[in-house]
Amino acid sequence: MGTSRMFRIFVVLGSAFMILLIIIYWDDVGASHFYLHTPVSPGPKVPHPVPQKRPQTSRAPSFLSDIDAFVNQFLEPGTGEPTDAAPADTSNQSEKAEERYIPRREWKIHLTPLAPELRDRQEQRRRLLQEMCANDSILFHGKNRSFDDIPNKELDHLIVDDRHGIIYCYVPKVACSNWKRIMIILSESLLQEGVPQRDPLAIPRDLVHNSSMHFTFNKFWKRYGKFARHLMKVKLKKYTKFLFVRDPFVRLISAYRNKFELPNEDFYRRFAQVMLRRYGNQPTPPASVDEAFSLGIHPSFSHFIQYLLDPQTEKDMPFNEHWRQVYRLCHPCQIQYDFVGHLETAEEDAEHLLRLLRVDNVVEFPTSSRNLTASSWESDWFSTVPVEARRELYKLYEPDFRLFGYEKPDSLINE
Ligand SMILES: *[C@@H]1O[C@H](CO)[C@@H](O)[C@H](O)[C@H]1NC(C)=O
Ligand SMILES: *[C@@H]1O[C@H](CO)[C@@H](O)[C@H](O)[C@H]1NC(C)=O
Ligand SMILES: *[C@@H]1O[C@H](CO)[C@@H](O)[C@H](O)[C@H]1NC(C)=O
Ligand SMILES: *[C@@H]1O[C@H](CO)[C@@H](O)[C@H](O)[C@H]1NC(C)=O
Ligand SMILES: *[C@@H]1O[C@H](CO)[C@@H](O)[C@H](O)[C@H]1NC(C)=O
Repeated sequence: MGTSRMFRIFVVLGSAFMILLIIIYWDDVGASHFYLHTPVSPGPKVPHPVPQKRPQTSRAPSFLSDIDAFVNQFLEPGTGEPTDAAPADTSNQSEKAEERYIPRREWKIHLTPLAPELRDRQEQRRRLLQEMCANDSILFHGKNRSFDDIPNKELDHLIVDDRHGIIYCYVPKVACSNWKRIMIILSESLLQEGVPQRDPLAIPRDLVHNSSMHFTFNKFWKRYGKFARHLMKVKLKKYTKFLFVRDPFVRLISAYRNKFELPNEDFYRRFAQVMLRRYGNQPTPPASVDEAFSLGIHPSFSHFIQYLLDPQTEKDMPFNEHWRQVYRLCHPCQIQYDFVGHLETAEEDAEHLLRLLRVDNVVEFPTSSRNLTASSWESDWFSTVPVEARRELYKLYEPDFRLFGYEKPDSLINE
């Protein structure tokens, strides 16, 4: 019973612990996402001047720092904020800022496997997209062009996060504010602004939709010049790409309610006046939205549908993003999405997605307390729209119905 025996036990236990660590590590980050780091850190520009110099945190995590982060998770339990975890007052900003280690918790250990239904659901949605893109009997504009043929300005809905290797195609009226908020948090571009890091709802609305907050594909040209397309393609290959969709008709109802039933000066001037003039017997519609609303004048849902079906509309300018078809916003036949969320299953999908992206302990998807436009109201809304117009409208949005597995609304169309 000497010290050598104690020593041997100690060594054996120590090795076992090390092996355990290695096993867990490889299990969890086995197929770890390797970051594609571009020399210029492409975080979106911050709107206001940065008040003070902060240590640079935008280095892509290296293999070793991943391990550090993992070990640190056990060593300092409970500290939430990745940036405030290290006591800030001890380090004097300027000196050795680079060396101060800021633990980044970008993944979390899950003891329960992902529910098989969720996995299957994604598998089905992805397979459906592939089938529909391969099926020649389903045709729509731009379907069989190559990625290189998509003009830059049509790539303005793809938000890139190099830090985590994520690409999000945002579709307005499909929880897009909340996903944009999450992309802002992940990009860490608000860190210096003092906005609470992890609360998506703390980000003011106008900031969320300010395009200067988001680094989108159409901005690549400015930054990377002739390498832009090449870089896009590399990123599309390596990164996790996702989008959220919803029933196309319900999305239209939601767009109408949000932009025309509520006073919105911009939409009133750009669209409502046109609808009133063309279909509403109002040769000279009121000049401002306040005036119109006080007189009880606004385009009806039926006017809105008429506007969408009018060939003149698309001639004047492409559909506004709030009603532009998803296939035109996100190019699902050119971009192979890894994850297709449906608003109808938003909460489950959000949880699944954040876990898939390994950011589920950095952000949470905000649960919405607002009343979503429900598909059960669909027939009420469309009751004022002639059946013939409904059929035409279906044709206009048919690719979205087919690509994303929404059922043809037979009860609306066959009356
Ligand atoms: C968006 O932010 C930029 C500065 O980053 C600012 O100049 C611009 O006015 C903002 N746009 C809107 C619509 O708030
Ligand atoms: C930090 O630096 C400032 C000036 O550079 C100095 O006045 C201050 O004492 C320093 N604080 C510590 C904790 O070293
Ligand atoms: C393609 O779509 C048509 C109808 O839209 C369908 O009848 C046909 O089975 C599809 N083809 C394949 C190969 O899935
Ligand atoms: C796209 O596919 C359709 C049907 O397969 C074909 O008729 C058409 O010529 C193709 N267009 C291009 C640009 O390849
Ligand atoms: C919310 O939805 C319910 C039906 O699901 C409806 O009865 C209620 O009026 C809605 N509330 C608002 C504020 O729209």
